[in-house]
Amino acid sequence: MSNLNARVKVRIPAAELARRIGELAAEINRDYARSERLVVVAILKGSVLFLADLVRQLTVPVEIDFCQAASYGQGQEPGEVHFKKDVDLPLRGADVLLVEDIVDSGWTVRALLDLLRNRRPKSLRLCTLLDKAEARVVEVPIDYCGFRIPREFVVGYGLDWGERYRQLPYIGVVESPSEENP
Ligand code: IMP
Ligand code: MG
Repeated sequence: MSNLNARVKVRIPAAELARRIGELAAEINRDYARSERLVVVAILKGSVLFLADLVRQLTVPVEIDFCQAASYGQGQEPGEVHFKKDVDLPLRGADVLLVEDIVDSGWTVRALLDLLRNRRPKSLRLCTLLDKAEARVVEVPIDYCGFRIPREFVVGYGLDWGERYRQLPYIGVVESPSEENP
C-alpha cells in the first residue's frame, strides 16, 4: 500500500481552497439574494467535494441535484456529450447554477449547459473550481471561477486520475505517474 500524499505535489493547499470557496459563496449569496428558487446542479463525480464545501457556506435556500456526462466515441465533440445521469428536479423557471470541478477543453460543460437550457430555467450560470483556460477549445462563459491553473493534469479534492486521488483535501499533481498505473 503506498501513501497517496507521498506521491502528490501540492498545487493548491486545503486552506487556500477553503479561503477562495468562502469568497465564491459570498458572491453567490449576494447574486441570488432575491432568487425565488435556486437549484445547484453538480456534475458527478469530480465536483462533489467542492459542492459540499460551497453549499455549506450558502445562506440562500438551495435545492441540490446531480448530473453526469458521458461522451460517445473517442473525441469530445458537440452533440456527442449526453447525460449518463440526468437531473431529477424540474428546472423550468428556476435559477440554475451548474457546479463543475474543472473546465478543460470546454466540451463537457458547453454541452451540459445546452442540455440544461432546454429545460427553460429562468437563469443558468456556471461555477467551476478550476479553469484550465489555455486548454480551451470551445468558448464557455464562466460566471464563478475558483482558480485559473496552467495546462497540467491535476488531482485531488474530487478530481481523479483513473478514479484515484479524489479523496485528497488539496489540489495536486502526481509526481511520478509512470511508476504505477492507476
Ligand atoms: P472538458 O470537456 O475537456 O472541459 O473536460 C472536463 C472534464 O475532464 C472534467 O470534468 C474532468 O473530469 C476532466 N479533466 C480535465 N482536466 C482534468 C485534470 O487536470 N484532472 C482531472 N480531471 C480532468
Ligand atoms: Mg468531471
